[in-house]
Amino acid sequence: MNQTAITSLFAWEALDSRGKPTVACEVKLAGGARGQATVPSGASTGRHEAHELRDGGERYGGMGVSRAVAHVNNELAAATRGLDATDQATVDGTLRATDGSAELERLGANAVLAVSVATAVASAAATGRALYRAVADPEARPLLPLPMVNILSGGAHAGRAIDVQDFLAVPLGARSFAEAIEMCARVRRGTAEVLAAKGLPVALVADEGGLGAVLASNREALELVVAGVEHAGLQPGQDVGIAIDVAATQFVTDGGDYILAAEGQRRLRPDELVEELASWCAEYPIVSLEDALAEDDWSGWRTVTRRLAGRQILGDDLFVTHADRLERGIEDGVANAVLVKPNQVGTLSDARAVVRRAQDAGYGTVLSARSGETEDTWLSDLAVGWRTGQIKVGSTMRSERTAKWNRLLRIEAELGDAADYAGAAALTGLLSA
Ligand code: PGA
Ligand code: ZN
Repeated sequence: MNQTAITSLFAWEALDSRGKPTVACEVKLAGGARGQATVPSGASTGRHEAHELRDGGERYGGMGVSRAVAHVNNELAAATRGLDATDQATVDGTLRATDGSAELERLGANAVLAVSVATAVASAAATGRALYRAVADPEARPLLPLPMVNILSGGAHAGRAIDVQDFLAVPLGARSFAEAIEMCARVRRGTAEVLAAKGLPVALVADEGGLGAVLASNREALELVVAGVEHAGLQPGQDVGIAIDVAATQFVTDGGDYILAAEGQRRLRPDELVEELASWCAEYPIVSLEDALAEDDWSGWRTVTRRLAGRQILGDDLFVTHADRLERGIEDGVANAVLVKPNQVGTLSDARAVVRRAQDAGYGTVLSARSGETEDTWLSDLAVGWRTGQIKVGSTMRSERTAKWNRLLRIEAELGDAADYAGAAALTGLLSA
């Protein structure tokens, strides 16, 4: 038998960073190589994401994944036995065909992704390559991504204290990945010190490790991050830009209006929300806006893409890492960058195809973790091997976040001149294109 043929799958129920169950899987190959992977999970999930299978019932308040685990151990193990793990496209195609549904609702995208990623890890091990090499095109140089680092959270990640879900630091002035992380850690600490000086608690940490401060308004949060950058001895807009994830799907009404709860329940039409965001952009060094409008507000998205041209307009819930939705965006001139979360679509091959299509169309690509994560680091290798140019995994604290930064720090330290660092060009290249 071929040394890289899959001989068995073994899945089990593990815990994620929010204490909820998730699927873990090990793939074993004929030659003895193994690969293990765990899958993440979102809180502000888009309606069009692939289906995450949960048990319901009593265990873990209905969040158990024992059925998804059983699907790996039974149906998916039988379907993949004998397949060549180095042929990711065939493995992923088989996983999808075995499920048979459009959004993997029968066996669960969590079951399918666990097998898909563990197969890639096993294939890399069997061929004696780092995962970032195994997932890359043969001649591609490894590219360390520009990080986007969570400083302050609101929305679904922090008890909805403010409407905007995430305020992130973008280390524009850094010349290496290591310098970028050091800058962001300084901003995180600087922001905490500014909060403490105001007498506000800094021990409240949100899902992605950002500060979960209770603030009076979205503007106050922007003000605070700018103050944090300055307190860290850095220049806002020069050394460090701000990215926001508005996650507007979380506060859209059925009628298509938006309600800013933190601003006295202000109700805004889509064009008024765009003007509100434009006024923030005029006052603060915002370089990237994610999910500025809700997931199905295509006309609002067209407006914001035109109105805020010159900034990264990033689609998360809008595109949900789906090729068909990205295609519509490209045709309609909607957004100029795509957030890529492999569990939104269910297989590595599908996520990879979205990255390629976006790059061909001149769209930026930001590989992203979820708010529910594990200590796993495969995401870091995908960013380097797929040359996404940008990555977002949360704050510079909490181990499920630092595990990913630490993997990237090691890759950069190890490769030295044999790798490139994307830097701010990942943004400016896109914006001048
Ligand atoms: P989620 O948040 O993982 O809860 O969806 C991350 C994001 O919205 O980017
Ligand atoms: Zn998002």
